[in-house]
Amino acid sequence: MPGLSRREVLFGTAGVMSAFAAGGFAASQAQASDHALTMSHLDHGIVPGTLTKDMMSFSPDGPPPVLRFKQGERTSIGVTNHLDEASVVHWHGLRIANAMDGVPYLTQYPIEAGQSFRYEFTPPDAGTFWYHPHCNTLEQMARGMTGVMIVEEAEDPGFDHDLPLNIRDFRLGGDGQFITLFKARNAARGGTLGTVSTVNWHVDPVFELQAGSLVRLRLAVTDVTRVGAYEIAGADARVIAIDSNPLPMPLPARDVVLSPGQRADIALRVPDREEDDVSLILKKKFDQKVLARFAPRGPSARRDLGELKSLAHNPVPKADLSNAEVMEFVFGWSPEGDAPQVSICGTLGYTFWSINRTAWPGDVPGPLEPLARLKLGKSYVLRLRNESPNDHPIHLHGVSFQLLSSNKRKLPPLVTDTALLLSEETMDVALVADNPGDWAFHCHVIEHQKTGLAGFLRIDD
Ligand code: C2O
Ligand code: CU
Ligand code: CU
Repeated sequence: MPGLSRREVLFGTAGVMSAFAAGGFAASQAQASDHALTMSHLDHGIVPGTLTKDMMSFSPDGPPPVLRFKQGERTSIGVTNHLDEASVVHWHGLRIANAMDGVPYLTQYPIEAGQSFRYEFTPPDAGTFWYHPHCNTLEQMARGMTGVMIVEEAEDPGFDHDLPLNIRDFRLGGDGQFITLFKARNAARGGTLGTVSTVNWHVDPVFELQAGSLVRLRLAVTDVTRVGAYEIAGADARVIAIDSNPLPMPLPARDVVLSPGQRADIALRVPDREEDDVSLILKKKFDQKVLARFAPRGPSARRDLGELKSLAHNPVPKADLSNAEVMEFVFGWSPEGDAPQVSICGTLGYTFWSINRTAWPGDVPGPLEPLARLKLGKSYVLRLRNESPNDHPIHLHGVSFQLLSSNKRKLPPLVTDTALLLSEETMDVALVADNPGDWAFHCHVIEHQKTGLAGFLRIDD
């Protein structure tokens, strides 16, 4: 059986796994980890004056911690599940071994309530990433379980400060409590939006920054639904990387379109004077909203954006387009409306979407058929065809891909793990299948993912 974790292999075959889980669990806990995450229920103040009940986090008493790793250095994370349901952690954007990818039944068993799992990997790429559950994903993410993860470059680019910004909404009513997490009629269209916008779990926070300094803003859109355009107003700011990969040329931080799962690294030169306010703005169709403010404080450090070293490219192999096989994937509605299978990783109770006319059955024990089989080391062009009137941020685990072309617009040659596929758009992307295993491939509007728009690619070694 493919994709078993090392621990499961050590402690027996899949069939007897649960009987041995306690043994494997104890053995893995005995080893100290570099980082610890505790999946927890909690009440926490999001809107002023009230505690929001029934939140979920990777920490018992606040937002998920920012995890920091070093490029090319092995690290380990001990995850303990203090929820009263199963979960699993996925490291979005990291090109690591399949057994550590955190997808239930594809790469490991769900971590049951009360159990632990030790993840261990070496991040090959530097940049801004994030982590989230892949089990009961809509509910657990909607209630708070989305965290920012940073892999530091071997060579320091020269910023004075580094500021991760975890951008997401919560669906709260006027009393500050959760309202229904989704509506079926929205799940069948663009998805259900949140009602309260937050940055690092705060509504419109003010970050005090040293005047005249150079700050690396790490925007991570960890929302379950919202596609938006972001802007830094009031200062000189340049986008230097998207989805962890450096841009060939820094771009002004205006109209930066990010969909769920995407990140932008922005180099900000803080103004010299305390009265010059800077803001992070989310642009909407007819208006805009300030998500966070940055206040210059103290005497100016007099830094200059030109003093920054450009970021080194990540070691993502370049596809050989002259020998690449083309594979087509069609994203659309589901031909059948059957409810997904019951799973300990939750179901929304509906099937609306499909890939290649097949709806994902739910996170259930296999055997499951891959959407396609790729050969290790070979180059491929994935032709992503959206035949629906909605946008879909398409995400592939384990492998990064390069944007090639679209029938609707000119694409920058970005390397990414998540690409926004517009309504009725056909987009070609290229990759080298250099990481063996079963890699989840899905829309990152979680309602779409959980109602059929998911599957996986198998890279055979
Ligand atoms: Cu960030 Cu399978 O997802
Ligand atoms: Cu991912
Ligand atoms: Cu979608």
